[in-house]
This record gives sequence, structure tokens and C-alpha cells, in this order.
Amino acid sequence: MSKKISAAITAVGGFVPEDKLTNFDLEKMVDTNDEWIRTRTGVEERRILRGEGKATSDMVVPAVQQLLEKRGIGADEIDCLIVGTVTPDMVFPSTANLACDKLGAKNAWGFDLSAACSGFLYALTTGAALIESGRYKKVVVAGADKMSAIIDYTDRATCIIFGDGCGAVLLEADEEGYGVQDSILRSDGSGCKYLHMKAGGSLKPASIETVTNKEHFAYQEGQAVFKFAVKGMADVSAELLERNQLTGEDIAWLVPHQANKRIIDATADRMGLNHEKVMLNIQRYGNTTAGTIPLCLWEWEKQLKKGDNVVLAAFGGGFTWGATLIKWAYNS
Ligand code: UT7
Repeated sequence: MSKKISAAITAVGGFVPEDKLTNFDLEKMVDTNDEWIRTRTGVEERRILRGEGKATSDMVVPAVQQLLEKRGIGADEIDCLIVGTVTPDMVFPSTANLACDKLGAKNAWGFDLSAACSGFLYALTTGAALIESGRYKKVVVAGADKMSAIIDYTDRATCIIFGDGCGAVLLEADEEGYGVQDSILRSDGSGCKYLHMKAGGSLKPASIETVTNKEHFAYQEGQAVFKFAVKGMADVSAELLERNQLTGEDIAWLVPHQANKRIIDATADRMGLNHEKVMLNIQRYGNTTAGTIPLCLWEWEKQLKKGDNVVLAAFGGGFTWGATLIKWAYNS
């Protein structure tokens, strides 16, 4: 009898642009200050992708190239590329499509997945299912956002949080029980009013009026999102532990979406987790939307040990939220 196939992460890549935008830079742009931003969010600086013609796919490509190099395989071995993003290069074709071309991934198909800050978790669960089915051998899942393309740098409610970046993982079949173990994903479209982009979709196509009214920027009612995020991320993480008969002590790492340090702390507390087990890089990159979770895995890859129980958790626009349990598959 053949063994059950699970989808294991076998390599991680990441990319953040070189240019930094610090809290002190923002002090000169909007009515804010470093102390407020640090204490209310945890962010100290974020990265911005600058340069004519630079788009989200230009962050996906180096991140994927890096993981291919680590794994010692060529781009032509990728079967499928899924890109979680809300800032695609274009409405169509997909960023995945464009990135595959730039990578030379000639045998791959791919698509973008829109679930805002939960984009990576949704894409990971989707990619894992492709591997578990036995039909695909190598699936790359990226979380990438060039948030600076949709942020109004005169709006202090949003410009202080967001940044640009991309993280990516390679998924391969595992028959020893490592990899993605369980996932709880949720969505609630009634949360749209608190976090969205008003124009540019089929509901309100671009016009001179939408540009004048700044409707192509991210709009967020921070306080309302904060309340839902604290409850949503903590509830789903606790539920994931419970249904897998685990406690905080069994978890080696929590990899939370990096939207606000206060939301992360609340989730860790609810899971009964020592804060030293929480990956936190919000101070350096801010909220890169779909990029936050894989960028943490990228930075912590060397500290992750084979067999570690790792919980990934996110909450974002939509609303979308979820948590995924992984048994880490390798030592690097
Ligand atoms: O990643 C996807 C999901 N997004 C999130 O999870 C984000 C969730 N929301 C948040 O992280 C927080 O709501 C924010 C960081 C966006 C805002 O923090 P807050 O603690 O909710 O601030 P607030 O809007 O309640 O404002 C508190 C005070 C107000 O002043 P008063 O009325 O108390 O005098 C604001 O006017 O802080 C003021 N304020 C600011 N001051 C300096 C609001 N924004 C700023 C600012 N700089 N940038």
C-alpha cells in the first residue's frame, strides 16, 4: 500500500528591496512620529521597491531563484507557481504568468491568488493540495506585495504600516509525515467596508474622478480591523491547536502575519506561547501583506529544525484569516 503523501516545504527564498523608508522619513511626510508608530505598531522601517518598470514580479523572481539555488534545481522543474498578492503587476495576465516567463519556468502553469494578508496561507493550502493529490511534484508558493504602489503617502492611517517584499517556498511530496498537517481558513466579505481599494475593479473602473478622489489607494479603518484581527487570528490559532491535541508547549514557532505587534502578542498569549517562540520582523519590513509569513520563514530558516511544529497565522482584508500547522521537514 502506498504511503500518504504530505506537502513539505523543502526550500525558502526571499527578497526585500534595498531602499528603506524609516519612521523618521515619514515624520517629514505626514503628521506622525517615530514613538507613536513604534509603540502602536512595532514598525521602525519598511522597504520600498523603487525604479521605473519595477513590479511585484520583480520581487517574486529573485525570491524563487534563491530557493531554486538552495534546492539545486532548475526553473524548468517547477510544475506550478502560485502567487498570493493584491498588488499584481497588471490586472491580467497574472503575476505568476509573468514571473514564470522571467524565470524561464517553461514547464510551469500558475496563477495569482487574492486574499490580502492571508494570501500566503490560502496559496500554501492550495499548493499543498496539488502536491497531496500526487499530480504535481514541485509547486512554488510565493507571497508578494508591492504595497507602495497602492499606498497614499499623505494618509497617516496606512502609510506608516505597509512595505514591499516577497517570500517564497518550494513544496514537494513527503511520505514520512512532514509538511503541512492541517489548515483552518476563513473568510467574511462583510468586512470589506473596513479595508479595501475603492476603484480599479469592475465595480468602479478607473476614471479621472477615481484618480482625483484617491480611490486607487488602500483604504483602512484601522481600529475596526484591529478588533477583528485580534479575535480572528487568536481564535483560529487556538482552534488549530485544540483540534490537533497540541498546546503552546508543543509549538516550536509561531509565524504570525506582521500587521501590528499588539495583534501578534495577543495571538501568542492566547496560544500560551512564550514570546521567544514568535517570529517578529515587523520592525524592519512593516506589513508586506502576503509577503510577511514567508519572509519570516526565510529569515528564520536556519533556526528551524526537522520535526518542529510550526503554526502560521494571518488576518487580512476581505476579511480573510486562518492558521496552518506544519511539521518542519529539514535542517538547513
Ligand atoms: O494587515 C491587514 C490587516 N490590518 C491590520 O491588522 C491593521 C489593524 N489596525 C492597526 O494596526 C491599528 O488600528 C493602526 C496602527 C492602523 C492604528 O492604531 P490605533 O491604535 O488603532 O490608532 P487609532 O486610529 O485608534 O488612533 C489613536 C490616536 C488618535 O488620536 P486621538 O483621537 O486619540 O487624539 C489618532 O488621531 O492616534 C492618532 N493617530 C496617529 N498619531 C500619530 C492615528 N494615526 C496616527 C499616526 N501618527 N500615524
